[in-house]
Amino acid sequence: MDNRNGVPVVDGREDDSRAEASRSGLSRRQALAAIASAAAAAGMAGGPAAAAPKKPGKPTGPATKTAFIEDLIARMTVDEKVGQLRLISIGPEMPHAKLMEEVAAGRIAGSFNTVIRRDNRPLQEAAVKRSRLKIPLFFAYDVVHGHRTTFPIPLGLAASFDMAVIERMARISAVEACNDGVDMTFAPMVDISHDPRWGRTSEGFGEDPYLVSECARASVHGFQGAAPDKPDTIMAAVKHFALYGAVEGGRDYNTVDMSPLRMHQVYLPPYKAAIDAGAGGVMVALNSVNGIPATSNVWLLQDLLRKQWGFKGVTVSDHGAITELTRHGVARDNREAAKLAIKAGIDLSMADQIYLAELPGLIASGEIKMAELDARVREVLGAKYDLGLFADPFLRMGKPEDDPADVKADSRLHREPAREIARETIVLLENRNQTLPLKKQGTIALIGPLADSGLDILGSWSAQGVPEQAVTVRAGIEKAIEGKARLVTARGSNVIDDQKVVEYLNFLNWDKPEVIQDPRPIETMIEEAVSVANQADVVIAVVGELRGMSHESSSRVSIDMPGSQRRLLQALKATGKPLVIVLMNGRPLAIGWEKDNADALLETWYAGTEGGNAIADVLFGDHNPSAKLPISFPRSVGQIPTYYNALRIGRPYTEGKPGNYTSQYFEEAQGPLYPFGFGLSYSRFTVKDLKLSAAQMKRGEKLTAEATLTNEGSFEGANVVQLYIADPYASIARPVKELKGFQKITLKPGESRVVRFEVGEDQLKFINADLKEVVETGRFDVQIGLDSHDVLVQSFELV
Ligand code: NOJ
Repeated sequence: MDNRNGVPVVDGREDDSRAEASRSGLSRRQALAAIASAAAAAGMAGGPAAAAPKKPGKPTGPATKTAFIEDLIARMTVDEKVGQLRLISIGPEMPHAKLMEEVAAGRIAGSFNTVIRRDNRPLQEAAVKRSRLKIPLFFAYDVVHGHRTTFPIPLGLAASFDMAVIERMARISAVEACNDGVDMTFAPMVDISHDPRWGRTSEGFGEDPYLVSECARASVHGFQGAAPDKPDTIMAAVKHFALYGAVEGGRDYNTVDMSPLRMHQVYLPPYKAAIDAGAGGVMVALNSVNGIPATSNVWLLQDLLRKQWGFKGVTVSDHGAITELTRHGVARDNREAAKLAIKAGIDLSMADQIYLAELPGLIASGEIKMAELDARVREVLGAKYDLGLFADPFLRMGKPEDDPADVKADSRLHREPAREIARETIVLLENRNQTLPLKKQGTIALIGPLADSGLDILGSWSAQGVPEQAVTVRAGIEKAIEGKARLVTARGSNVIDDQKVVEYLNFLNWDKPEVIQDPRPIETMIEEAVSVANQADVVIAVVGELRGMSHESSSRVSIDMPGSQRRLLQALKATGKPLVIVLMNGRPLAIGWEKDNADALLETWYAGTEGGNAIADVLFGDHNPSAKLPISFPRSVGQIPTYYNALRIGRPYTEGKPGNYTSQYFEEAQGPLYPFGFGLSYSRFTVKDLKLSAAQMKRGEKLTAEATLTNEGSFEGANVVQLYIADPYASIARPVKELKGFQKITLKPGESRVVRFEVGEDQLKFINADLKEVVETGRFDVQIGLDSHDVLVQSFELV
């Protein structure tokens, strides 16, 4: 993919101020270097610049780490310290040759978006052979849902409700990234989202703090393996700290204003989970939090992250975020922005010009104390130490003779795991008259603008994924039915019709325009699709969103099926042929018509390199779907936010009892179209006989909730048994229910299994009005079901 994700673009040009900063960067840097050496001469520059550098040793152990880093810091000049806070991407302003020179001058800590060993090796050589102190670089990249192999988008991965799946995805991604010399990933992205208008909903794990926290943990374990200093592990920098998913109106980069209670109860736990799992880095969000940008937020970065949570790793600003403090209106100029950021605790400045330009002057004037600068440098050097780079700067890059001849070679992909993982993420939403699984016989019509797109199926953070290597739905189906059934195809429509939207998406972040429109009139395309459908026994329609529509800077005002695709579906329905709708999208869509009219409806997200094979496996019953929605699907945009764990209110709408003066929208049915946790199987599963081991529980004790899961259908399959708990009366209004556990169980036809969950204070605790974690006595309702809506309930008292 491109290397420009996150670069703000204004009127077709790169952000003016940054472009300006970069244009004037060199001369200003020279001026500041002069200031810095004057300061050094005056004994302010943090060490004897002329002292002979020591050779970095092969340190191990915490005591050694501290001593090693302190020794290094004592020998660094201000310029070298500032250099260790700069994270730079190769781009028009920083071509490779210039980057090499900067590295050799000791002015760069690491680079992101350089992902080829052949490109990175000379940079690392410049760092460890030519720079004065020989401090190695680190290489970072957005390895979010795969590296060479693209796995399903995180929203899909969460739908697996299977943490082994997520850990496996992260482990393989780490191995592939290491093979390209990458040391750190900007992932997992654990921003909870209640607003599907936000394009980055696709990148997160959904709406629920428990599920997202589990996914965060599994990702960190997968990326970092046993420890981040191994040649096959990368450091995870969890993002975006914090609350980025709650941008107002779902509009990307917008403000976030949230009560402390909601913050602590819902939005913060996933970041904490990643940190507790050992994430070595934290990427700081672009948004403000209750009026104070995260990038300058002392409460967030010092009090909460470092003091309360004990985070010991490195913090990274998001792209250009320090400069943006002036736009937030909290910094008068770049100098003040740099000062605020460093005082708040931003270690690495991503795409930096500003630390470079401003920190030396701020140090010279005494506005930033040397100890404050050292504190930030210490974290960066600490991360490099933890990554094993001081011991071996080429740990992940290896030797030139081992470089792959062809970095894109198919042999470098992990196709089989990708297919297995993708199958676990596909959610069956409808299946009337057992339309699915399809038989591999007769004539099948495959229609829709996304049916043969190798690009879209990869999703938007597809790292080094290659569209031509992706198995499209068409390719997957062709292979599955080869020699058994006939496939007829038509495009049917474009995904979008509006030329302005096409231009926006093509301008977005990609290296080259990626939305290629079929120029024919929609009537012609639909007519052709109908005639193709009429030849077939069954119609499969692949519709949804282009990958760029579910991405950074891709907020939508509507969550309807884009363009003329609904019209196409209606025409296909009118043929009277069984209609299987395969959805490809990165956010919940308002799919009321599809729900009512499809004979079968599959949510496939963006399923990755092996997506087409995985989808075919599900369509033809080689895999029985078991995934569940990790996010509620609203009926319409007006229902947003729709999330299952809403707080209790005084006038709730009661199902089946319509009435005025209750909380509802009067023009349409209440509640989500599909609830959180929902997903069908080709088999019929039931949960019965919920029992609690006790009707009373004393503090400190535990009880067991059990229920019997039965596969009453005729296919072997898995289902996710979900445990919810409600606290109907407490010192503050509590959610109507909260997910507290889940187990994915595979059963043969006719088989039953008793599923047990332990319930203790951990499942009952919450944050009270004083922001203290408490467990309050009283009644609790234990709920077990196969989604968040249809549950069995039993109560107990905590005494
Ligand atoms: C901006 C995005 O917000 C962030 O998630 C990403 O890691 C950086 N760009 C680097 O690509």
